[in-house]
Amino acid sequence: MIFETHAHYDDDAFDEDRELLLEQLPKQGIGRVVNIGASLKSCQKTLDLMEKYDYIYGAIGVHPNETGELNEENFAWLKKQCEHKKCVAVGEIGLDYYWDEPERQVQKEWFRRQLRLAKEMDLPVVIHSRDAAQDTIQIMKEEHAEEIGGVVHCFAYTKETAQIFLDMGFYIGVGGVITFKNGKKLKEAVEDIPLERIVLETDSPYLSPEPYRGKRNSSLNLPFVVEQIASIKNVTPEEVERVTYENALKLYRLS
Ligand code: NI
Repeated sequence: MIFETHAHYDDDAFDEDRELLLEQLPKQGIGRVVNIGASLKSCQKTLDLMEKYDYIYGAIGVHPNETGELNEENFAWLKKQCEHKKCVAVGEIGLDYYWDEPERQVQKEWFRRQLRLAKEMDLPVVIHSRDAAQDTIQIMKEEHAEEIGGVVHCFAYTKETAQIFLDMGFYIGVGGVITFKNGKKLKEAVEDIPLERIVLETDSPYLSPEPYRGKRNSSLNLPFVVEQIASIKNVTPEEVERVTYENALKLYRLS
């Protein structure tokens, strides 16, 4: 059984066959899924999915590039949604200096506010950090993220940076990039990161693994990621599935 820790099944890319696809997942070995909010609209859709499917949980939060839409009023709404019994995290939140909008000061402000929200609601966080390692770490340290816990999703930094997140008690999310020919940096990091701290994710509909790179992704492609991690760690794919499933339960505090 596989635990999918990060997908966006609310995305328009699934409008044509969402129900058909989601119903297949448990039959194809995907035991649980966390759908990740990225904007106010996607949080609402995430709530709908959590209500409809017993194996789908949700993370409620606003992605750094969407933080321009936040204000006191809708932030209060966001907080209220975190009380849902199937809301397992605040996320995805963080900093994205690749797309670099809205201005960095706005991203940082709402990153801090959402970290504090997680602490207040006693939920872990799902961190999105792109081309912004230094500021992400600084804010996480200042906000005592080690007391909050969570996952650094779609990890794309060096093994040295991975160690800093591991020292704060965070899990590392690994997805399709591990299968890419140019994924050498991530492969090196995964060699170093203990299997007990890795969780599986797709970021569907994005980042399909080889051999489907460039196509729409879904949790059904996770076996390609499992295989790659197994070969790096020199263990069986079954072992990778079992350990990462346990890790995800701990990360999202599920039993
Ligand atoms: Ni995502």
